[in-house]
Amino acid sequence: MSHSTATTDQAKEGSPQGKAATQPNPVPFMSLALEQADIDAAVSVLHSGILRQGSRCAELETRFAAQTGATHGLTCSNGTTALQLAYGALLQPGDDVLVPAWTYIATASMLVAAGCNPIFVDCLEDTFQIDVEDAEKRITPNTKAIAATHLYGMPVDIDAVEDLAKRKGLRIIYDSAQAHLATYKGKGLGTFGDANTYSFYATKNLATGEGGMVTVNDETLNKDIAALRSHGETDKYLHTRIGFNYRMNDITAAIGCSRLDRLEAQTNTRRQNANRYDAMLADIPGLQAPTRTEGAESAWHLYTVKMDLSKFSMSRDDFCAKLKEQGVPTAIHYPRGLTRQPAFDPYVTEHPKVADSLSAKVFSLPMHHDLTDEHFGQIGRALTDIANSNCT
Ligand SMILES: Cc1ncc(COP(=O)(O)O)c(C=O)c1O
Repeated sequence: MSHSTATTDQAKEGSPQGKAATQPNPVPFMSLALEQADIDAAVSVLHSGILRQGSRCAELETRFAAQTGATHGLTCSNGTTALQLAYGALLQPGDDVLVPAWTYIATASMLVAAGCNPIFVDCLEDTFQIDVEDAEKRITPNTKAIAATHLYGMPVDIDAVEDLAKRKGLRIIYDSAQAHLATYKGKGLGTFGDANTYSFYATKNLATGEGGMVTVNDETLNKDIAALRSHGETDKYLHTRIGFNYRMNDITAAIGCSRLDRLEAQTNTRRQNANRYDAMLADIPGLQAPTRTEGAESAWHLYTVKMDLSKFSMSRDDFCAKLKEQGVPTAIHYPRGLTRQPAFDPYVTEHPKVADSLSAKVFSLPMHHDLTDEHFGQIGRALTDIANSNCT
């Protein structure tokens, strides 16, 4: 991984506080290494000379969509353009759209890019996911959709979202950028909503560098998004609406296909690791393991813990600094809620209470498929030592 990539990853994933240049044996925060098969897959596309969106993109679309339970997949350049494509096909400029105040910026910023008005909704104190009761209170006569993120890989309460959408006639777009292969009530996330959008950014569970996908279950919508992805082209050089060039290329897709071979096994390992963390945290005072949405199986992109600050004699940042000293890196997802982002000032009328309080309390621990018994031993000792000495 080049130095500049590391810097970008750090910015994107939230400045690992323990990026421990001075630590002899830090636990790796993520596991990003490619295998030889991934490199071979990319090289074989290079040898073919066909570098555009082609058969490897088609393969990734078919396989990934099927694994998430969706009927159609559309590869695209990244998770941000995936959102823009889904919003562009399903929404109209001027629509009000419910969106969590606690998510990555793209879920809401691409609404603004589509000419819509984001209505910021609070999140639940326990699961950190969108608070559907709060969403209902914020509906305006002009509200046309709900854009909900399966944050950290944990599905939202899909039954509640669907019930609200049905009663109020709302479209549903799920930002599944962090939730590859997560399930709800035994079904893949692709079976729910009007569209699901994914990111294959370099640090995501399925990582192609840059990359993304939209999945849908409607043939017409599939065609609309395919056209939007490529200059609104519906026939050769016939452009029926203004579109973009948001296509993926086959080098990227080949890496995605190769890594997809391992995704299910790696997701299962993440789930086992989440169970290990849960058991560990049950014995540590003042730290709350992430609560699971009922009926959901998370993809565990991130394992994000909440501190009970009233019990600690130190701040979250000081706690994380102590962890860093013991070789345990952490990252903050996120340092501020979206209503505190200056870019959204024109759309903010208040700061939803829970979302506004989480930025001081949460931190993410290392979560990936390469964590070992030794890593868990090191993390457990560090958390226990620091919590026991600083928590009442
Ligand atoms: C929830 C969420 N939505 C959207 C995105 C945007 O994806 P990308 O970085 O591939 O554009 C991300 C990426 O970090 C994300 O975490």
